[in-house]
Amino acid sequence: MRLQRYLAMCGVASRRKCEEMILRGRVSVNGEVVKTMGIIIEEGIDKVEVDKKPITSNSTPVCYMLYKEPSIVSTCKDPQGRPTVMKYFQDVKERLYPVGRLDYDTEGLLLMTNDGMLANSLTHPKFEVYKTYTAFVRGSIMPSHLRKLERGIEIDGIKTSRAHVQLIKQDSGRSEVRITIHEGKNRQVRKMFLAIGMRVTKLRREQIGFLSLGNLKPGQRRKLSIHEVNRLLDEAKAGNFSSSR
Ligand code: URA
Repeated sequence: MRLQRYLAMCGVASRRKCEEMILRGRVSVNGEVVKTMGIIIEEGIDKVEVDKKPITSNSTPVCYMLYKEPSIVSTCKDPQGRPTVMKYFQDVKERLYPVGRLDYDTEGLLLMTNDGMLANSLTHPKFEVYKTYTAFVRGSIMPSHLRKLERGIEIDGIKTSRAHVQLIKQDSGRSEVRITIHEGKNRQVRKMFLAIGMRVTKLRREQIGFLSLGNLKPGQRRKLSIHEVNRLLDEAKAGNFSSSR
């Protein structure tokens, strides 16, 4: 098996992150630092280390959903020393890491796993996993705004794909909009609204694929059942993630 695939399978990080780790010289095989991609290793025979710590394959993929609160970083470590999502998982023995990102100021559904394949499938653009957000927006949303968001809008020089957009509430110059997208560009939802002249004051991710926050409260987590994990893996493999609309 290729080294980067093995590292991802062992839950070190997503495949792309593992490739970065290799290029940075953090990975060694049988005591030798490996900085090139594609080296083949034999599971159970070759001794693989990351940052001098031995890596073993975990046979059971584990996945949690977390209701991330705002003002929390969705990475394992933060160079600025801000609290990270790892604070919610101190009692969990598996080496978890976040599947994709939510902005520091965004709240809502974030998945955490020890399974690199799962993380890769859920974040890779080709699998088009649908994500639904509730955006609390300053200003009144007009039908023309909704149409623009729906058709796709240019942000950072690239047009976003079609979105599903629904006005939920509008009251004294404030609007609540539900928006479903399958891309994950940096601060995409906030930038889409900025492109139509509206500022998002609060953003909550409600749903990823078939998984939704349900009764989870801010700061709470729930371990996914083995059926849910298998369904995530199956749907990712089949490429048939869809929104619940
Ligand atoms: N879009 C945003 O603007 N922020 C997020 O955290 C996720 C999607």
